Formats: sequence, C-alpha cells, structure tokens
Amino acid sequence: METVRLGIVGLGNMGKAHLANIRGGKVTGLRVTCLCETVGTIPALQEGETAFTDVSEMITSGKLDAILICTPHYSHTTIGIEALQHGLHVLVEKPISVHKADCEKLIAAHTDKSKTFAAMFNMRTNAAFKKVKDLIETGELGEVRRVHWEVTNWFRTNNYYATGGWRGTWKGEGGGVLMNQCPHNLDLFTWMFGVPQRVRGFCQFGRFHDVEVEDDVTAVLMYDSGLSATFVTSTGEAPGRNVLEISGERGRLTVTDNAQIHFQRNRQPMTEFSYASEAAFAMPESWHMDIPVDNTGGQHVEILQNFTNNILSGEKLLSPAEEGIRSVELANAILLSTWKDATISLPMDAAEYERILKDKSENSTFVKKVVAKKASADDFAKSFR
Ligand SMILES: NC(=O)c1ccc[n+]([C@@H]2O[C@H](COP(=O)([O-])OP(=O)(O)OC[C@H]3O[C@@H](n4cnc5c(N)ncnc54)[C@H](O)[C@@H]3O)[C@@H](O)[C@H]2O)c1
Repeated sequence: METVRLGIVGLGNMGKAHLANIRGGKVTGLRVTCLCETVGTIPALQEGETAFTDVSEMITSGKLDAILICTPHYSHTTIGIEALQHGLHVLVEKPISVHKADCEKLIAAHTDKSKTFAAMFNMRTNAAFKKVKDLIETGELGEVRRVHWEVTNWFRTNNYYATGGWRGTWKGEGGGVLMNQCPHNLDLFTWMFGVPQRVRGFCQFGRFHDVEVEDDVTAVLMYDSGLSATFVTSTGEAPGRNVLEISGERGRLTVTDNAQIHFQRNRQPMTEFSYASEAAFAMPESWHMDIPVDNTGGQHVEILQNFTNNILSGEKLLSPAEEGIRSVELANAILLSTWKDATISLPMDAAEYERILKDKSENSTFVKKVVAKKASADDFAKSFR
C-alpha cells in the first residue's frame, strides 16, 4: 500500500478541521476517500470521495483502509468496535470512550494487531511536554515528589454548550470538562507521571453554565511512591491560567501555557541536602534557568502523519489507543469520588461507574436550552490551547 484511503465519520468542528488538513496536503500518504455525516452537512465532495449517511455502509464499502472517528464521545466505542471487526485501521478522537467499561470493550476488539489503532492525543506532540517527560525519565529532575496542574483556561461560554445539542449532559457527553477538554491533560498527566493509586475528587456541576455535568474540578491524586498531586480545572473561570508545577529532588519545573519551561535547579538533591546539612535553617543552593523549547509540536497533523506512517512503514505510534483508557479511568474516578464523597482506589470498579452514569443519563430531569447557531471554523480554531 502506498496511500492510505481514509474515511472520516462526523463532519462537525473537528472532522472538518481534519478534512481541511488532509485535503490541504499536510499529511503525506493519506487520502480522504469517504465522508460520513448523519445530521450536519458534508463539505462539497472532491474527486475520489464518496459521501455516506450510514457509518456501517461506509465501513463495509471497501472504499477505505482506515477510519477517523470524530463523532460525539459515546459513539467512539460502537463505531470503533465495528470498524476494528471489519479489519480497518482506526484513529479515534479523544476520549476513546466515555467510561472505563466501554474502553475495555473497545480495546478488546483490537484483536488483529496488524491493524493500527491510535487515539488523537495531539498534545503529546507539544515540545514542552516531550521535554518534561525527557527530564523526568533521564533523572534530570530527580525523583518527582509533588505535582500541581492548574488548567483553568479552558474557558467556554454558555453559548458553547447551548449550540452543541449533545454537550453538557450525561446522556449526550457523559461528563463535562473532564470528558471534553481534559482528556488531553489527564492523558499527559498519566503519560508523564503514571496512574495514581488513590483519587479524591471535588466536582461542581453546572457551577458556571446551564449544564448538568461538571464544569469545575479539584482533585487530589496519590501515588504509592509517595508522590502527591493536585489537578484543578474549569471551563468557567476567566482569565484562568495553565500552570504545571513539578517538584523533584533536583528542583522545580514550571510549565506555563503548555509552552514555556522554567527550571529552578537544586545544586544538591533536597533530601540528600536535608540529611547532610549541619544547619537547622539552611536551603539547598538553587539556580534559575529557562529551558528552550523549539516549537509547539505538529499537533493534529503530526498524529495523522504518525498514524499513516505506522500503517505504511511501522513507525512507532505516538498515542496508541490502548493508552486512552488511563485518562478515562482517571476522569471517571474523580467523578465517582465526588458522587460517593469518598476516596477511590485504582483500578476502579468499571461496572459500578457505568451503572451510576447510566442512571444519571436515564433519570435526568435536566432540560437544556438549545440554540441553533453553530460555532464558525475560526471560532473553533480558538479552542486549541
Ligand atoms: N483533539 C482535539 O483537539 C479535539 C478538539 C475538539 C473536539 N475533539 C473531539 O472530536 C469529537 C467531536 O467533537 P466536535 O467538536 O467536532 O463535535 P461536533 O458536534 O461539532 O461534531 C460531531 C459531528 O458528528 C456527527 N455525528 C454524530 N453521530 C454520527 C454518526 N453515527 N455518523 C455520522 N456522523 C455522526 C454530528 O452530526 C456532528 O456533525 C469529540 O469526541 C471531541 O472530544 C477533539
């Protein structure tokens, strides 16, 4: 195979953005041959493209080798399973599913390992996070002791929720900021620091918007290694900020706006200094430095290119879909902890979570005011932070 024939399902904000990148020739070896949309409009077809309104028909059409799933979250599981069972390569938007049990079902369908199965975790391409992961893995930061990530600049207006019929409801979206905006951050969190063993969440529901899901979150994450972490997020706070602070034995890293890295480096690791010092109030000498980061990463295009290269030449995947279960489980645990007012141990009970979420979806009395006007492509582009 020289060119991968791709079908895109879901031509809303994200599907159209991917389509524009691929049609624009930004991804070598990838060609769109099929487009599928149930309700919205499919952009005018170009030569060699076929339109579908039924995803099963597209999957079995023989006109595609791979599928890119850009539909609302719940259907990632059903469409993903069907596509994998029909022998397609699959690239699924984040989150890979809404809850852990669905993730397990989706991942279990990937039985033919010769097929590529990846997730659109485009923020893994950010140069700043790649650098931070490198500094941790090479021991430059020393053992990580504490992490605080405050990402409160996912601001969304009430109109954002009002114009997306499925957004802001348990039934449509299965969650709020944790399920829509934060899969990226939670994925990066587990990518850099691993999965915590205990989670305590404090979510507020509809605090800032006319929604029934969480739009404000404070969570404490504890690791058996002793690492303690906090994760704070919101879609209602302005100006908000995005600051990740990582304290290690060799100093503290501060990552601002996913882009700038500042390192306050200890001359001597802090615990070693503590036990070696004969003074009572001494501090390790530390130096300030900015760590250069050369770009912001290739984002969606880089993930699409990596997916294509993996199919064509076996390049190592940047974001295997199997790893997508971690951010979903973490998000689920933060919500479950809030609902039960208790600490949740991981691995968590997937069936219990699914049961509670189903109950919330089916017995909701929430009525959302829906407005018809959709965001423009320009407006949507502002959402990438
Ligand atoms: N990676 C990123 O940076 C990023 C950014 C935004 C959204 N997303 C993800 O992309 C997905 C879609 O988000 P969006 O903002 O584009 O939503 P959207 O509502 O704008 O678009 C979804 C589209 O899917 C269509 N659809 C629904 N079910 C379908 C089906 N069975 N077959 C065909 N079409 C169907 C809808 O009609 C709609 O047009 C979400 O999972 C979201 O988390 C990812």
